[in-house]
Amino acid sequence: MTETPRRLHVITWGCQMNVYDSARMGDVLSTLGYAPVASPEQADLVILNTCHIRDRAAEKLFSELGRLRRLKEARAADGEPMLLAVAGCVAQAEGEEIRARAPCVDLVFGPQTYHRLPAMLEHAARAPVVETEFPAESKFDFLPEETAAPTPVSAFLTVQEGCDRFCSFCVVPYTRGAEASRPVGAVLGEARRLLARGARELTLLGQNVNAYHGAGPDGGTWGLARLLHALAELPGLLRLRYTTSHPRDMDAALIAAHAEIPALMPFLHLPVQSGSDRILAAMNRSHTGADYLRLIDRLRAARPDLALSSDFIVGYPGETEADARATLDIVEAVGFAQAFSFKYSPRPGTPAATAPGQLDESVKDARLQELQALLRRQQAAFNTASEGRVLPVLFTGPGRRPGQIGGRTPALQPVHVEAPATLIGQEVPVKILRGGATSLLGIPAETQFPTSTKEHACA
Ligand code: 5AD
Ligand code: SF4
Repeated sequence: MTETPRRLHVITWGCQMNVYDSARMGDVLSTLGYAPVASPEQADLVILNTCHIRDRAAEKLFSELGRLRRLKEARAADGEPMLLAVAGCVAQAEGEEIRARAPCVDLVFGPQTYHRLPAMLEHAARAPVVETEFPAESKFDFLPEETAAPTPVSAFLTVQEGCDRFCSFCVVPYTRGAEASRPVGAVLGEARRLLARGARELTLLGQNVNAYHGAGPDGGTWGLARLLHALAELPGLLRLRYTTSHPRDMDAALIAAHAEIPALMPFLHLPVQSGSDRILAAMNRSHTGADYLRLIDRLRAARPDLALSSDFIVGYPGETEADARATLDIVEAVGFAQAFSFKYSPRPGTPAATAPGQLDESVKDARLQELQALLRRQQAAFNTASEGRVLPVLFTGPGRRPGQIGGRTPALQPVHVEAPATLIGQEVPVKILRGGATSLLGIPAETQFPTSTKEHACA
């Protein structure tokens, strides 16, 4: 007799780490016979992998749970039971609240516990489970080595999780826990498997990835620079990246790695959050605006073509017009290739949430718009400056339009090119015809025919 197939659907919100985690949950569950399906309607187990970093995470979750509850009831009436699970950082922060407000949820588990899914599911079939303790063991030691998910040309690899920095606005130290690094051998092993399955670019992930300090095979502790050097030696690897970094954890070896490792792409996401020293101090960032600018100088000395990206928060409690101006000034001083900017949103349990001087939404809106207008201008200028240049593009999949394939430049700009799909997985010189707001349009450089692609607009 064949067993009934088990069907899994994971809905993922939030950062690249959550995307990676969802894929690893799929790996754990594939050992129980679960295979992914495209919609919750077809699934026996639906997991919502949530993000708590900014606003409205909980509202979004409860509204999605309302929809899934109706689906679950309809399925039960048809004699087809469905299990509903909530994972990720909202689960970690609000586990009991979720169980109380949404009794349809069978299983709530935090980001550190998904290696225990088989046991948790067994229990959840009998009674609801809430698992938000930080376990003593590392989940990475218990994950299956083989992955069920297809390996993309550009793959993520988590090397570090959690954070000890405690920026006053941020929930990560509470939801993801203390900083923990995977051992070097485990990282190299996973990298080799990804490359053997067709990955050409690896992006090392961690909430504070440059704080990496993994146990090395030589018995010593390796920093991120040493890990990058070792990864760069692996056959099949074309490109390396890492994200996200804290300015205070950028050590001399890591800066030098940008000069020494050709595979390390000339792009760095280095959040500064604010340009005002007063606000940076209140945020507990432990660096000033001048420290950040000095760091950028050292990085650019090591790698003159380094493109920079950052995160910004506007409207932090107590932020004045002058503080907001200082953020615009630091943006002007650096010149970013791209950036993410957010209105401050109070996160329960963080020091900033109860700080005096909380600002009106209208003030935050106005400051965000001004900052984003400047960042958009910088990004457009950066993209326009690529016009006419020949850049190496690693093609990763289909492009925006039929007949196009898409890839990324070393500076992470998306590029759309009319070219055969056989080039996917290869790094190819591309002549950039047009630089748009968020992407580029090009043609393969060896075949510089005047093509009709010129008429296609980019974003
Ligand atoms: N409000 C607004 N933005 C936040 N971020 C983190 N916490 C908050 C918050 N409470 C932003 C930071 C961080 C990025 C991942 O999210 O800019 O770098
Ligand atoms: Fe959050 Fe990043 Fe600060 Fe850590 S370094 S507390 S993850 S903002």
